[in-house]
Amino acid sequence: MKVLATRRYPGPAFEELEDVEVRPLSELSEPRPDVEAIVVANEPVPLDLLPGLRLVANFGVGYDRLGVEELSRRGIAVSNTPGVLDAATADLTFALILATRRRVVEGDRRVRAGEWTGSWADGFLAEEVTGSTLGIVGLGRIGQAVARRARGFDVRALYTQRRRADTDLGEYRELDDLLAEADIVTIHAPLTPKTRGFIDARRLGLLRDGASLVNTARGEIVDEPALVAELVSGRIRAGLDVFSDEPHVPEELLSLPNVVLTPHLGSGTRQTRDAMTRIAVDNILAFAQGRPLPTPVV
Ligand code: 8YV
Repeated sequence: MKVLATRRYPGPAFEELEDVEVRPLSELSEPRPDVEAIVVANEPVPLDLLPGLRLVANFGVGYDRLGVEELSRRGIAVSNTPGVLDAATADLTFALILATRRRVVEGDRRVRAGEWTGSWADGFLAEEVTGSTLGIVGLGRIGQAVARRARGFDVRALYTQRRRADTDLGEYRELDDLLAEADIVTIHAPLTPKTRGFIDARRLGLLRDGASLVNTARGEIVDEPALVAELVSGRIRAGLDVFSDEPHVPEELLSLPNVVLTPHLGSGTRQTRDAMTRIAVDNILAFAQGRPLPTPVV
């Protein structure tokens, strides 16, 4: 089965694809009827150029940019890579929680700028993580991994999602109540038409003064201009791994001390990325052999 991969995906499993062509979508100009499967990283699939396409194997758990409705209308199968990136994403979430709450990046800048003059950082105070209240927006696999880590930090977890869960990982709150009560809010919802922009200006206004907002999910879930305005005012802090128009980061954020910015690193460990390739390849091999997809989306 002819497979097109938009890059050489990391890890040894990629070598198991026998007939694979590595080519970014930007280099596709002529129709390619020979391609039956494609590996993408949450990229829009150019269906007009791929008339023989039967499978899209997404390298990632989130598939918001693939156009799955149209793919499913055309009977094209889609797989993703759930599960294997929960720990890495939850770890990065905690890195951003700790960094924003304890002013780690600001402290690093101070040292590098030669601004550390006393014997200890007199007056450079941060907020405690231990004993704080964490609001988890979306208690799916990644949200649950964050809640488990919160226990180790003696952090009280609240959560919100469409359906109240039978769980001891956190106390349920309506979204608005969670935003108003938490010291730290972290987003772990998928991007869907319902969640696009659902943390809007009004909801950002519910956050407590000095609260931290962490986003390792999708930038488009938050109204980005409204978030920038809150951050420029200095009222809240944020740890942002995702943005509305990646890799574009709003200019105003670049000089702010109350924001930690990372370049969509959530799943970016060697181990996790290898495991994601493993799953993408397993889906392609299963499809080629006429077996059910291990992790189908549609
Ligand atoms: C990927 C992600 O790096 O899995 C996801 O949803 O956001 C990341 O793991 C990105 O989607 C590229 O596939």
